[in-house]
This record gives sequence, C-alpha cells and structure tokens, in this order.
Amino acid sequence: MSATAIEDIVVTPLGPGIGAQIDGVNLREALSPATREHVMAAWLQHKVLRFRGQQGMSTQQLVDFSKNFGELDRAPTPANKTGKPYLAEFPNVTAISNIVIDGQPIGGLGSYEAEWHTDMSYNESTPSASILYAIEIPPSGGDTWFCDMYAVYDALPAQLKTRIANLKCVHDASRNSAGMLRKGWKEVADPRETIGALHPIVRTHPITQRKALFLGRRLNAYIPGLSLDESEALLDALWQHAVRSEVTWVQQWKIGDVLIWDNRCTMHRRDSFDAETRRLMHRTQIAGDRPY
Ligand code: OGA
Ligand code: MN
Repeated sequence: MSATAIEDIVVTPLGPGIGAQIDGVNLREALSPATREHVMAAWLQHKVLRFRGQQGMSTQQLVDFSKNFGELDRAPTPANKTGKPYLAEFPNVTAISNIVIDGQPIGGLGSYEAEWHTDMSYNESTPSASILYAIEIPPSGGDTWFCDMYAVYDALPAQLKTRIANLKCVHDASRNSAGMLRKGWKEVADPRETIGALHPIVRTHPITQRKALFLGRRLNAYIPGLSLDESEALLDALWQHAVRSEVTWVQQWKIGDVLIWDNRCTMHRRDSFDAETRRLMHRTQIAGDRPY
C-alpha cells in the first residue's frame, strides 16, 4: 500500500480497501477549500479516515471541522436513566464513555462490547458520517472495527443479490449499539413487531452511486413479507457474508485520533475493555438522506 501526497497532505491506506490515515492536516484550524476537497475525496474512496495528533481540539473545533461534511445531526437519545444529552451545550455532540461522575455516566456505551451496526440506522434519514475524537484511551481493549459494505455487496453470490434486490428490513430503534434499552422503549418480544425505520437492504450511495449492503444491526431485524423463520435465515446468511476479515479493518486508538467514517457504506463494532480503566470520546454525526 503506497501513500499519495498533494501539497503537504499524505494519504496512507491502512486496510483492505477500507481505512486510510491522513497526515498533514490540522483539524483545529479551518480547512482551505483545496484541503477540504482532498479530504472529501479520500473519505469517499477509503470510507474511514484517521487523523492522528489532534489532541487539545475543543468541542467547538470538533463541531466546526464536522461541518465540512454537511449539517450536523442531533445526537442520539442516550440510553441512560435521564435520557438527557451528555453535553448540554452541544446538542449535536455526544459522549461515548465509561466514566461515571457522582453516579452519573458522562457518556454512552459504558465499557461493553458494541455489536456491529451502522449509526442511527433506525431513523428514517440516517447520518452520512460519524466523527469520533479520542480524548482518553484505556491501555488495552476498546478497539473499533470497520466493515466495507460495498465489498460485502459486490462479493455476494448472484442468487442472493437477486433475492434481496427489492427487499426491505426493519431497523430496531429500542436499543443502543451496546444492547441497552433506551428510556421509554419496550422490549421487542417478536421481531415482526420491531419499531424503527424500514430501509432497503441494498442501498445506493448518493455520491459514488455504488451499491452497498445495508444491514444496520442484527438484533430484532425483520424483513417484512417473509415469515419470521425465512427472515431470520436470510438475515443470518447475509450477516455471514459481512464482517469477514477480508473486508474489515481495526482501529487501535491513540489519544488525539479523529476518525470519520461513511455510514452509507460501512458498519462498525467496538471491543469491550476493562471497566476499571477510562475511555472518553466525543462524537458528531452528519445529517444524511433517506436510504434508497
Ligand atoms: C459510535 C460507536 C465506537 C467506539 O460512536 O458510534 O459505535 O469505539 N463508537 O466507541
Ligand atoms: Mn456507532
């Protein structure tokens, strides 16, 4: 894998067609139009970009950088007791953390594993991008894995592609990606009763026009029009094709890392980590379209 440089910006691919590191950009300052264009093109090509050494970035600077990619989306409702946003002054920024202060978690997901998902896929319009900034990192664990959903779609057997061409799937809104029930939501007893957006299983990326498999999350997913057994079997078959090592890349965090991923063509998951250690990230999400 070779690096390419334009001006002072260096793009180094990191994974098998997914993930690249960008060096030579200071995200705490406004990007020039040329830099912005270069970063956007790299993002669309590599699906996940990593910028290292951005420590000290303020929340406002994170918001300002994020706006290069579009309008910010509201942070998801936290799956905590209060349902109140973690950063009261920044409704578009959420915290991901296991740190508890005065009995209150200061962020979501705790130290648990977060299963494979696409952010906020249970909404009618889903974010085009998520941006995650590492403020505190545990000594081990908490790695974040990414899966290239274009590659997953491309590699599906032709028969399976035909079968799913016009099918939709319900994406469960009741639980967060660590499996915690959100405030005010009822447990789903039968996936046929899952509440959440209905999206095509094969989606077209609005900019690249490439097709990607869009699974969102496995728990309580259901394909209307099929019996529950058929739906489960088809979803299991599709998930088996996703998340293979040939199409995934893992991020091992350093303090000051900023990651931006394209939610329209990736999924991600997070390893658990020792609850006695500390991890703190801030996240923004960019408003996207209704998947088609
Ligand atoms: C997220 C997420 C993973 C992580 O912010 O959407 O899934 O590594 N985070 O904390
Ligand atoms: Mn996520």
